Parts: sequence; C-alpha cells; structure tokens
Amino acid sequence: MTLLIPFVLVAYVLLYAFAFSIPPLPPVSTFLGAGYDRHAQKPLTETLDAWLEREERIALDKLLANVSPGGRNVAGAIKGSVIASPSREHPNYFYQWVRDAAITTSTLVDVYADDPSSKLSSELSAILDEYTHLQHSLQHTNNPSGSFDDLSGLGEPKFEADGSPFVGSWGRPQRDGPALRAITLMAYLRAYNSSHPTLWTSGSGDDWFASLYNPSLPANSIIKADLEYVSHFWNQSGFDLWEEVEGLHFFTAMVQLRAMREGSDLALAFGDKGAAQWYTKQAKQLEEFMPQFWDQGKAHLVETLGSSRTGLDCGLLLGSLHGYPSADASHTPVYAPSSDEILVSLLALVEDQRTRFPINAAPSSEQEHGLQGVGLGRYPEDVYDGYGNDKRGGNPWFLCTASAAQVLYNTAENLVLATNLTISSTALPFYEALMSSSSLDPRPDTTYGLSDAMFHSVLERLKSTGDEFMEVVKTHTDAQGSLSEQFDRVTGYERGARDLTWSYGAFLQALRARKRVL
Ligand code: NOJ
Ligand code: NOJ
Repeated sequence: MTLLIPFVLVAYVLLYAFAFSIPPLPPVSTFLGAGYDRHAQKPLTETLDAWLEREERIALDKLLANVSPGGRNVAGAIKGSVIASPSREHPNYFYQWVRDAAITTSTLVDVYADDPSSKLSSELSAILDEYTHLQHSLQHTNNPSGSFDDLSGLGEPKFEADGSPFVGSWGRPQRDGPALRAITLMAYLRAYNSSHPTLWTSGSGDDWFASLYNPSLPANSIIKADLEYVSHFWNQSGFDLWEEVEGLHFFTAMVQLRAMREGSDLALAFGDKGAAQWYTKQAKQLEEFMPQFWDQGKAHLVETLGSSRTGLDCGLLLGSLHGYPSADASHTPVYAPSSDEILVSLLALVEDQRTRFPINAAPSSEQEHGLQGVGLGRYPEDVYDGYGNDKRGGNPWFLCTASAAQVLYNTAENLVLATNLTISSTALPFYEALMSSSSLDPRPDTTYGLSDAMFHSVLERLKSTGDEFMEVVKTHTDAQGSLSEQFDRVTGYERGARDLTWSYGAFLQALRARKRVL
C-alpha cells in the first residue's frame, strides 16, 4: 500500500495537469506520509499557462482554507476571521492581521463580483457577511492601541484568532489597516449593490447597509468608522506594513489616499455631504503630501520618510497596486503601477535583489543587465528569514515577486487602453532595461503610437517580463501548489509561515491582471 501512494499521486498530478475539466483534487496532503519530498513529483515540463490555470484553483482553495467559516485550517478561529497562516509555531502566524485579512478578502470580493449569482459567489457572500460583522466587533474591542471611543483602537494591527485582543508587545499602531478594510468593504458594498440595486436606491435603512455606512450613526457604521480614523490620523506616524519602522510610509499613505477618495464618493451617495467634503479635503492634502516620497537624488521612491534605509521596498509596488487599481478611472492617477516613478523604483529594486540572492544569479553573463524576472524580497536591508533574524539577510517573498508581475501586467493593460506610449526622461532607464535585449532603442520625450514597432515591442516585453516573475513563483511553489511566505535565497525551497493567505491573494491578483491584458 505504501508503495502505491507515490504512484497514485503521480497519476493524479499528471491527470490533473492535462485534464482541466476535472474538479480540484482533495488536498494532496491527504495522500502523503511524513518525509515525502514535496518537490520530487513536480511536473517540470508543464507550461506557465497550464500551471497558472491549475494553480488558480489551488490558490483559491488554499486561501479559503484559512478563512472562517468553512476553512479546513481555522479550528478555534472566530467566524469571519482570516488567519494569516495555519502555522501555530515556528513561526506563530495563527492570528488575524487587519491588513492581511483586508487584502485577501478584497480578492474574494473580486471573485464574488465576477458573477454574483454563481454558486461560488453565494458561498463567498456568506463569508463576506461574516467578515463584515466580525470587523464591527473588532473595531469595538479594547486593545493595546486604544479603544473605539476616540477611534485609537482601530490602529491595532492584529487580533487573536478567537477575536480577543492580542496583548503582547508589537509594532503598533499600524495605520494602513482601517484604510485597507474600508477599501475592501466599499468594494463589497458596490458589488453587492450592483446585484441588489433596490437596496441602495431605496434608502430603506436596510440593516445590512446601515451597519456599513449610516451618516447619523457613525459608531455603528463599519466603513464610516474606518474612514473617520483615516481622516483624522493619516498625518500621524505609525508602524510600516512590515511592522518594523515607525514613521510615515508610502504604502500606508497610498491606501489612505484611496480610502479618502472612494470614501468621499460613498459619503455623497449616502447623502452625507459634510463628511464627503471632509474626506475630499483629506484626499487633497494626501495628494499634496505624496511627492515627498520621491527622492530626486536616488531617482526612485522611498518607502519611509527620513529613514536610513535605501527606501527601495516591495511596499512601493504594493502601495501602488492597492492605492491605485488600474480599474479606477474616476480619480487622477497618483503613483499608479504604470507611472514613471513606480517603474523606475521597480527596476532599482530588481537590480538590488538580483545580485543579493544567489538563486537570482543569471545563467549567462548576457543576462546581467536589463530587466528580468527574479525573486523579490521585501527590501534590501531585510534580515527576517521567516522564523527569526539572520544576519546574512532575508529571502525572496512570493507576494513581492507576484506583485512585480502585477505591476508589469497593469502597465501593459494601461498601454493597450491608452493606445500610445510617451517615454519621459524619468522613465527612460526602465524602458531601456526592458528593451535591452531588443534592437529597438527607446528615446526620451518621444511618443510611440499603434503604428510604431516600439509600441508593440514594449507591450510584448511587459507581458513576457511579467511572465518571468510568475515563472519564478512557479519554480518555487511545491508540488501541491502550496505557497509559504518566502523561498530560500540559496536553495529556493519554501521558507517561513506555510500557506500564507496573503501569498495566495497576491498570486490571484497578479493572475487577474494577466488575464485582463491577454
Ligand atoms: C509579517 C509581514 O511583514 C506583515 O506584513 C504581515 O502582516 C505579517 N507577517 C502577517 O502575515
Ligand atoms: C463633520 C462631518 O459631518 C462628519 O460626518 C465628518 O466626517 C466629520 N466632520 C469629520 O470627523
């Protein structure tokens, strides 16, 4: 029998890889004994397209495994919670982080919005409703950051899985959480409303809507409470998304700006005119504040103001992706993924990480220059190896590597929509690196249109370089399609918290961006 197990597994993997019509497998771990080499059975010849199609289902399944109700990994977690990872020790990630939960739930909202009447969506909507209810009670839970009365408690970054406050020492407050949660809930509200239009327009005081936004009852309105928090605290320092540095941060400010812009639109839709004006005023101030993150001397953005670090950071990519989604046509772009500043920052980060991590070493000297897909970590100075600090440095992260792909896909999508490309002198280094293997020479202050070869080659290279980053994710994903937090800088094997919910969310978001451009 034991001899049969690997055989059955191989048969399944092959079948699964080539017969896309069969439903997802039960978790492959069911078939495995301890000590099984998780990498040995990988169908190495699988194309990127075939793998992405397969991994999409696996990632959604494994993301949902970390979500209550219904998840396989959430025993003991309160309904509506999203745990960061099932790992309860070495490291213990069995908590709900407001940030991780909001970001990954936004992916569920997107899947729900694809087709609100599908069977999957009715399951998702049950989860999204529980998530929403739980956020109300977390907002009102006294915690070491403060309480609901003066809203200070909304800056608390993480809670126990059972919903009680986490009282250990921590980098707190973190002011991105309320902004991200408001963004996710506003997206859910819009998606829900588009399939139940009478609720929105009737102004009937429907309980569900009132619990999200009620002009006269801010204390009971989950979104309004988060918007109030953002509007009153965005200019105060807090810890960064990596929970290490206190200050003012690009990622945090970008999501706060988006929350204020969308919040103002929402307030207006609910007839809350004073609030709409107030949020717009904060959004304007944030817009004026954002250029401080551009460092002209370094010629890239920096993640934290006044920090001694280089400032190159995956938080720049994430801030752009979460702060200015390509779908948003109603607001002026600020550091959108396709902006000159984000693209040159991406290039600088890639150049740093390529030489920093041995697994990124190019196979031939020819590839030493230009822009290629490599494993990306959080930032150059990182020493967190997924378990503790390692003086030799950190590792590449799945969510950062997938985010680089997403930035490139978004840029390609933007190009298709714009039907022309103007290369500024700021962005020139990026386009030169992108096109270094081609005979075409991008010129500064030049506009290329549909009839120019440059336009089409840039578009192709954006997509294929995005795919190179996805190939890196594919290479380091194990045979079951599991994504941990990191992969080893030397061996490439998965490291850190296993089945990181955010890794699955980031992969799915990059894949959605890829589908939009193909
Ligand atoms: C550590 C990461 O730096 C942080 O961004 C994240 O929220 C937690 N892990 C949980 O995944
Ligand atoms: C007064 C507004 O009416 C209210 O709703 C708004 O959001 C606050 N000012 C700012 O806290």
